[in-house]
Amino acid sequence: MTTAAKGLEGVVIGTTAISRVDGANGRLIYRGYEIAELAGKATYEEVCHLLWAGHLPSRQELDALDKKMRAQRAISAPVLAALRALPSTTHPMDAVRTGASMVGAALPIDGTPTQDQAIALTARFATLVAAFHRLRHGKEPVAPREDLSHAANYLYMLTGEPPEDRHVKSLDAYLVMLADHGMNASTFTARVIASTGSDLASCVVGGVGALKGPLHGGAPALVLDMLDAIGTPENIKPWIDHALDEHDKLMGFGHRVYKTTDPRAELLREMARQASDPEFYALAHQTEDYALEELHRRKPDQRLYTNVEFYSASVLHSVGLPRDLFPPTFAISRVAGWTAHVLEQVVGNRLMRPESDYSGPTGLTYAPVDQRA
Ligand code: ACO
Repeated sequence: MTTAAKGLEGVVIGTTAISRVDGANGRLIYRGYEIAELAGKATYEEVCHLLWAGHLPSRQELDALDKKMRAQRAISAPVLAALRALPSTTHPMDAVRTGASMVGAALPIDGTPTQDQAIALTARFATLVAAFHRLRHGKEPVAPREDLSHAANYLYMLTGEPPEDRHVKSLDAYLVMLADHGMNASTFTARVIASTGSDLASCVVGGVGALKGPLHGGAPALVLDMLDAIGTPENIKPWIDHALDEHDKLMGFGHRVYKTTDPRAELLREMARQASDPEFYALAHQTEDYALEELHRRKPDQRLYTNVEFYSASVLHSVGLPRDLFPPTFAISRVAGWTAHVLEQVVGNRLMRPESDYSGPTGLTYAPVDQRA
């Protein structure tokens, strides 16, 4: 019998030139660029090009990509009809999963995945989220604007108002930082689907499903729930102590790969400090400090640090997004990474088909249904 690595920890499932997560040294690299080199400097569109094509675009390449993405932001009538048909109580991640599936079926997106298909899906993701958000509040969707950047247009489509520059800058930096992250669960999911020879929309729909879980992209809303429950600085210690005594996980802490600080958390902390209400930031920062102190004291061997989700929550909150739009906003960014990985997977692909250890019984004999005890 072989030994299974629980949660596939430490298992290398392939080679990628797209991004490197160096968990020991707290580094994230996109195609040779440290994340701090890109966040706040490159736009999301430039990073899409970097991930898909392997290099930062020239002016001409960027203009061409921008033109294609802006022209494809609108969602077609059948896709909009599907979003309209959803109950207003639908979780926005379920709506974006449904919408992405509809985009794939209606365009259609089929055959071997291509960069043009990646653009077609990425361009529409923000529109799916914004359109559903408005519909669930009884408002008509706002049509995308071709004169705005990806980040600005998303904020515009949510409210119908031109967004503030500082919000656009924060969101753009967030979209850059979350666009790819090695062989995370949702990217792995997308690559497994790609390995079967399936289409790009199916890979992306699978990615959305994997991202939804609270152990992956569903955490930041729960971070805000935690900060709300803590409420005041005096309550930090009793709240955290109680949660850890009950063996609850603290949302926004811990990571499978980073055994030191996540570089994105460092960048997001500074953004949150600048953009948040000072009282809110103080509560978040003091909560982080005490949580780290207790996690290190109680679980010294686990090397638990703040992960990307803790300050993502504060940054997205400061931009004015409601908390249940945090996971789909993560998806709006990560769709670039998923599609880049699928494009890489299909080159020299081999079906991903691991094995499992069977732990059930053997040797049972069939009895007709009326003769069974
Ligand atoms: N709070 C308290 N204890 C924790 C936490 C946490 N946030 N994270 C890990 N631990 C502890 C576990 O209780 C366990 O301790 P034990 O061995 O004494 O029982 C040990 O550390 C290992 O935990 P695992 O869950 O096995 O670690 P794994 O690598 O499988 O999980 C994960 C990583 C899912 C991120 C985990 O740290 C977690 O659940 N964190 C909270 C949720 C969260 O913030 N998710 C967002 C992740 S970032 C992203 O996906 C973009």
